[in-house]
Amino acid sequence: MLSVGDHEGHGNRTVVNIDDVYRRYQELQAWVGWTGEDACSVAATSSLLAPHLSTLVEDFYDEIQRHPNALKVITGGQAQIERLKGTLVMWLRELLGGRYDQNYVSRRWQVGWRHVEIGLDQVYTNVALSRLRLGLMSCLHEHWRGDGKELQTTMRSLNKLLDLDLAIIEDAYQEEYALRLQRSERMATIGQVAGGVAHELRNPLNVVKTSVYYLLNASKPTVEKQIEHLHRIEKHVVLADGVITALSNFAKLPAPNRTPFSLEECVREALDANPVPDTVELILEFPPSIPPALGDGEQIRIVFANLLRNARDAMPQGGRLTIAARETNGVLETKVEDTGVGIPKEQLHRIMEPLYSTKARGLGLGLSIARAILEKNGGSLRAASEWEKGSTFTVYLQTDSPPPTSSLIRSDGP
Ligand code: HEM
Repeated sequence: MLSVGDHEGHGNRTVVNIDDVYRRYQELQAWVGWTGEDACSVAATSSLLAPHLSTLVEDFYDEIQRHPNALKVITGGQAQIERLKGTLVMWLRELLGGRYDQNYVSRRWQVGWRHVEIGLDQVYTNVALSRLRLGLMSCLHEHWRGDGKELQTTMRSLNKLLDLDLAIIEDAYQEEYALRLQRSERMATIGQVAGGVAHELRNPLNVVKTSVYYLLNASKPTVEKQIEHLHRIEKHVVLADGVITALSNFAKLPAPNRTPFSLEECVREALDANPVPDTVELILEFPPSIPPALGDGEQIRIVFANLLRNARDAMPQGGRLTIAARETNGVLETKVEDTGVGIPKEQLHRIMEPLYSTKARGLGLGLSIARAILEKNGGSLRAASEWEKGSTFTVYLQTDSPPPTSSLIRSDGP
């Protein structure tokens, strides 16, 4: 595999598989009806056009100098322009050379990404090529000594070739733009995650630090005080550990091991690990007729644990938590309904986005993890909420033996 665009400028690395680019070029050749005859008729013009290439190139750079937005990418002044003129003559010679192999395509692709690298808007490459095309055509017209029909064929071949060149240059532009966007989004996400993690870990660590300081420096702490501080340390270590667990759950969600499991048992286990306070009335409705669910029980428990924690946090003054399951047409539907603060309407569509949180504290990963887990398990998640009345999260899962027609509803959110 030969690679083009393999560079390490600005610490980035873009590697493109030239075999793929070449295959694409061949596909486009077939599309425009490019044949060996086209290649021959273009090559036949090369001696006719050769004496005029430098005039075309002069015109090309004269025009660039009239457009400050294009000109600003030329940072090396006249010396660079002179060098670029040489590059463009080479480019034109190769265009008329009649060999349209992998190396040719690779260099065409290179023009695209090099221009992205120097920050030249794609529109300028397009109009510059249009001007070159016109120049080449006028030149052919003016100096052609053969018959008119042959000229028509030659011009058609040259146009096909220029269109193919432009397609490859544009393709390189798009690919390079997309990679750059991906990179900057990744950097932004890393920044967000780092900020969120720092924020979430600093608080428990500060509490631990204060308690350790007390235990080390208090002159005569009572046993009760010592125990109280040790409990605080333990509690906040667990909190910090939870942050790390949430992150690693998100980072490497393993492929689910889908087997039949009891939904009720799964919910009860999640409740054992995340008990609701006495101020919250708990109602569980699992009809005995409910068939086993199909999925990775361990992973689904994480889903319910996240929903339970959210429900609990939404009801700091207490309230009612109802978890009700039912089966319809091979789909198991479990509603987790709280009577808490609710989610404002304008935030509801974003709550399943990673790192989006409506809470004062929290990484904002719980619901996106829940959604990702459910989707990997052939299920989905829906959210409904009314401000100051409460929220309902509905978990959809397949039953052990879904009827052939069963279809699952897509998760809400982006
Ligand atoms: C049909 C349109 C164009 C063609 C075929 C073309 C061709 C090329 C080629 C072959 C290169 C060398 C790529 C490499 O590094 O391997 C290049 C680089 C460059 N082009 Fe273009 N170009 C076009 C339009 C433009 C325009 C409109 C500008 C406007 C200023 C421009 C400015 C540059 C600059 C600044 C470089 C970097 C040169 C360097 O390394 O110093 N190009 N171009």
